[in-house]
Amino acid sequence: MELKEYILKNECLEIHVCNLGGIIKNIFVRDCRWKLVDVVLGFDTLEQYIAPEYRKNYPYFGALIGRYGNRINQGRFILDGQEYQLPQNNYGHCLHGGDTGFHHRIWDATQPNAQTLVLSCVSPDGEAGFPGTLKTTVTYSLSDDNALQINYEAETDKPTIVNLTNHAYFNLSGDGKTTILDHQLTLNADYYTPVDSTFMTTGEIAPVEGTPMDFRTATAIGARIDNYDFEQLKNGHGYDHNYVLNTQGDISQVAAKVYDPKSGRTLEVYTNEPGIQFYAGNFLDGTVKGKHGIYYPLRSALCLETQHYPDSPNKADWPSVVVRPGEKYHSTCIYKFGAE
Ligand code: GLA
Repeated sequence: MELKEYILKNECLEIHVCNLGGIIKNIFVRDCRWKLVDVVLGFDTLEQYIAPEYRKNYPYFGALIGRYGNRINQGRFILDGQEYQLPQNNYGHCLHGGDTGFHHRIWDATQPNAQTLVLSCVSPDGEAGFPGTLKTTVTYSLSDDNALQINYEAETDKPTIVNLTNHAYFNLSGDGKTTILDHQLTLNADYYTPVDSTFMTTGEIAPVEGTPMDFRTATAIGARIDNYDFEQLKNGHGYDHNYVLNTQGDISQVAAKVYDPKSGRTLEVYTNEPGIQFYAGNFLDGTVKGKHGIYYPLRSALCLETQHYPDSPNKADWPSVVVRPGEKYHSTCIYKFGAE
């Protein structure tokens, strides 16, 4: 099937999406002089997204992630008494649905109007080890209040687990040569889920209070990120953690906010999900040549991936990711742009 790029447009935003992986290739926001500025990392051409040198270690730029965003311990889980084995592509764990996850698939795409793109795919029973035929629809839509809404829906014919997200890398300055260490972040979360040295959640829900994990008031991302005396920052190579949102599924409350003091640009995140993965681009290492030939340096972007907590299938008392036949999985993420 052919690689295709779709353009969504309204007065404030212009977004380019690829049918491969549902990848958000560009998010152009308007600056005060009405010039368009691209605030996400990625490649200039669609072919680069499938180039062999990036296919293996592709950092998931802007892609839809499934069937399970984030990690599952040793790629193993038990559902209704039956054990399932998923690909082990990251420290022995399953990360982002394995190497053949939704980010590598060509989605069917329809564009009902200039502001909306509907992507769908059917993942067969047993694909990458996941039970059940999963029919997934993801809708990207622009709204007049400067927001991109991502709606995820899925249905299965057998009990299964689902955790869908998007992996957009934001740098609000629009300049991928610079880091996001000066971006100020607010996370509406009193707790987070600590990880071990393989990035696996330990099962603990720990308070952010009194630690460098605390972003309850706007704080520069770089202010404490190198404090590796704090074990969690050492384990995550910086911030790469799931935050337990205070919003508890209430999409009307802001879950996260980013402010770039240089450009004045802001990004707010809203979601019905219980968690958000804050990843500070710690694995960008200057080897991936992105848009305009820029080799993206360490921490030149951040991701805010709305989701259920990592390894939920193996953590009995965390919010459930199980979806059964007849039920509808539904998740929403809103990225709302602005300027201050
Ligand atoms: C997620 C993970 C990170 C990293 C990136 C992709 O955000 O939490 O550890 O794997 O994806 O590089």
